[in-house]
Order: sequence, then C-alpha cells, then structure tokens
Amino acid sequence: MRLGVNIDHIATIRQARGGAEPDPVTAAALAELAGADGIVCHLREDRRHIQDRDLEILRKTVQTHLNLEMAAVEEIVDIAIKVKPDMVTLVPEKRQELTTEGGLDVIANSQRLSEVISKLSNCNIAVSLFVDAEINQVKEAAKIKAHFIEIHTGAYADAIDEETADIELGNIASMAAAGHKLGLRVSAGHGLKYHNVRKIAALDYIEELNIGHSIIARAALVGMERAVSDMKRLIG
Ligand code: PXP
Repeated sequence: MRLGVNIDHIATIRQARGGAEPDPVTAAALAELAGADGIVCHLREDRRHIQDRDLEILRKTVQTHLNLEMAAVEEIVDIAIKVKPDMVTLVPEKRQELTTEGGLDVIANSQRLSEVISKLSNCNIAVSLFVDAEINQVKEAAKIKAHFIEIHTGAYADAIDEETADIELGNIASMAAAGHKLGLRVSAGHGLKYHNVRKIAALDYIEELNIGHSIIARAALVGMERAVSDMKRLIG
C-alpha cells in the first residue's frame, strides 16, 4: 500500500500570512524522507493554498511521484501539460467549499472528462478520476479510459456510527473490486485519519491512499517525519 501525502494545508498556513513559510516544497521533501511514496497537491482555480510556483518547484524536487489534483478546466489543464506531473487526479471543484465535497459526476461530464483524459494521456500523464463508491460512475470511468479511479472515502470517514461506517466500507470494497475487474487501477482517499485508516488499508485492490489533513494536523504538533512514519506504519 502506497501513501500519497497531500501537502495543501502547509500552503494554507503560509497563505494565512501571505509570506514564504511554511513552504510546501520543504514539507514535501520531509514527507519523502519519512517514507511517503508520493506527494499530492491541488492547484485550485482560486489559488487558495497551492500556488503555481509551488507546483513548478515540486515538479523539479519531488523524487517519488507527483500527483496533481485539479478541476477539468482549460486553464489548469494547460498548466498540467506544461508542468507534467506523473499523475493528474480530476476532482469537482466549487468556489465556496472548504474541501472537495464528493466525487465527480463522470456520467454527466463524460464528454468533457474524456477529452481531458485523452489530452493528458497524450502527454504521458496518468489520469485518475475521483469518484464516489457508485458502480455507474466506476463503469463510466473505465469507458472513457481513465487509468485510475480514486474512491472517495469521505462517507466512510464521516459515518455517524460503526454500522454506517461498515456499510460504506463494504461499498468501497465492492467498487475497488469492480474497478479492478474493469481494468482500472484503484486508489482511495479523503477524510482518512489515524483511527479509521486501517480498515481501508486492509481492502483488496486498493494500491494507494492519499491523505492530507490528518497528517498535516499531526505534523503541526509532532513534526512531519513522525506524522508520515506513524501513518506508514498503520497502512503498511
Ligand atoms: N483525495 C482527494 C481527491 C482530495 O481532494 C483530497 C483533499 O484534497 C484528499 C484525497 C485528501 O483528503 P484529506 O485532506 O481529508 O486527507
């Protein structure tokens, strides 16, 4: 199981004062030293945390695997083609949201997503679609030739009781198996924390977890290396 560490919220802290620190590029290097298998960042249209400069430097400094989360909009697609991350994860993006609120509607946006997948694939960038654990979305992702799906784990992470969490876990497990059967590679993420990650890490067919907020929150208190190595131990 690989761990992709999302460093957006190091940039959120920096943007709170508009200065130069803490630098997400430094955080990415520390995360890699602590065992992260990849670095994830989200270049939002409103540039609320990660900036263009961060992405450009990360491309030059990340030694493992750089996964750029982004909306399927022309401006950011052009940046991705220029910067060439190893992977792009397409997500829905709303201006007012605090964080990504759900998976893409792949069916409703099939034509547009298919064009973006083919544009990025032609530049040798792997494309992942962030989807809810829903069979029709997974089937459409395979149909339009995504390489990966990232299954949204938010409903599992935010479940109000254990019974609901187990139902959501079952859905995620089925969608991971379905995606695999359809030829997709499968990752998962969103809302995963130190206390709820192990059941997801134990599922078959999921090869990578992308985790941000809980690692950065712990890092603020115990340090980046310890926060990443604690998570690696749990999912390993
Ligand atoms: N995966 C995707 C597609 C996301 O949008 C996010 C949040 O940026 C994450 C994973 C990480 O979520 P969290 O910060 O809750 O760990």
